[in-house]
Amino acid sequence: MSVFERVVRRGLFRIGRGDAEAAHEWTLRRLSALSERPVALAALRGRYAVAAPRTVFGVRFPNPVGLAAGMDKDGVALPAWPALGFGFVEVGTVTAHPQPGNPRPRLFRLPDSEAVINRMGFNNAGAAALAARLAALSRPLGVPLGISLGKSKVTALDDAVEDYRASYRALRGHGDYFAVNVSSPNTPGLRALQDREHLDALLATLVGEKPVLVKIAPDLTEPAIAELLEVCLARGAAGVIATNTTLSRDGLAPADRGRAGEAGGLSGRPLADRARQVVAFVHAETGGRLPIIGVGGIVDPDGAARMFDAGASLVQLYTGFIYRGPALPRAVARAAAGAALPASTG
Ligand SMILES: Cc1cc2nc3c(=O)[nH]c(=O)nc-3n(C[C@H](O)[C@H](O)[C@H](O)COP(=O)(O)O)c2cc1C
Repeated sequence: MSVFERVVRRGLFRIGRGDAEAAHEWTLRRLSALSERPVALAALRGRYAVAAPRTVFGVRFPNPVGLAAGMDKDGVALPAWPALGFGFVEVGTVTAHPQPGNPRPRLFRLPDSEAVINRMGFNNAGAAALAARLAALSRPLGVPLGISLGKSKVTALDDAVEDYRASYRALRGHGDYFAVNVSSPNTPGLRALQDREHLDALLATLVGEKPVLVKIAPDLTEPAIAELLEVCLARGAAGVIATNTTLSRDGLAPADRGRAGEAGGLSGRPLADRARQVVAFVHAETGGRLPIIGVGGIVDPDGAARMFDAGASLVQLYTGFIYRGPALPRAVARAAAGAALPASTG
């Protein structure tokens, strides 16, 4: 392991000792500082970047391994992610109104399970601030940028469409694709937007110039997913991101069960099987017509391979990156470089 990997991993590992969120912020600050140093970025790129290009929903990805939403919500460390080997980056979730999120503590580490419980509640600086930051980037990112949109807490569910539309308007010039996040468990009522009527109205408004993907919860039943997919296909969604965090607490190691009562969404290794099942279901149900970004519990190249086998065209990492460190995206991308493409990449 290089010195750099040790430093980043040490920062990531401080999560759980003391304030997990403080550790996350420390890491982001370091990566943000790194983003200002072109020479260091180039050195990292030389070490970590992997070419395994594929085109999905009309967008060309240098490799199929992305950073999942929520890690860099406000896009403060953007140039660092491709330098670490990520083939795309999803920023956000952002909301039309800036908001502080839930009170701390709201992020909990479950190390024996390689899992995290979070109830962040879409803390973010708002869509306009992200648009300004993206406009000020001094050079192109070099990898596709996804932007995840959510509903502001102050906005009533009935006004959700207008809220998403406001964010989309502010940001549409900046994203290569947009993710409609209707699956976070941490904004009251948000998941109701996965229902046919709400989702139909949302997609009718947003689908147009840029690819729009729908991010779904792993806790939906198969009939509910099937209904959602009908809406996605009818409204021309570009794909599905499966999955967000789960409300289930299955699969925790004994030492972590004391944390199981924390409210919020569980991510990481215990989510892997369920996330993969959802990907397989979406793939089968749509006959491969809707490209899938598979996310949930990928902690090593084998886990990613299983996600691709289930029908994912691209994958994303979050919790695995916290526990396994910055060598993970490269390892996964290298393994993917040799893998066959699923039928739905066109
Ligand atoms: C601390 C934290 C914050 C997250 N924030 C978001 C978010 O803002 N938007 C979103 O769509 N997903 C968010 N997620 C979910 C991840 O993008 C991902 O779907 C989930 O964690 C499963 O992947 P993983 O097991 O690799 O972490 C968050 C996850 C974590 C752990």
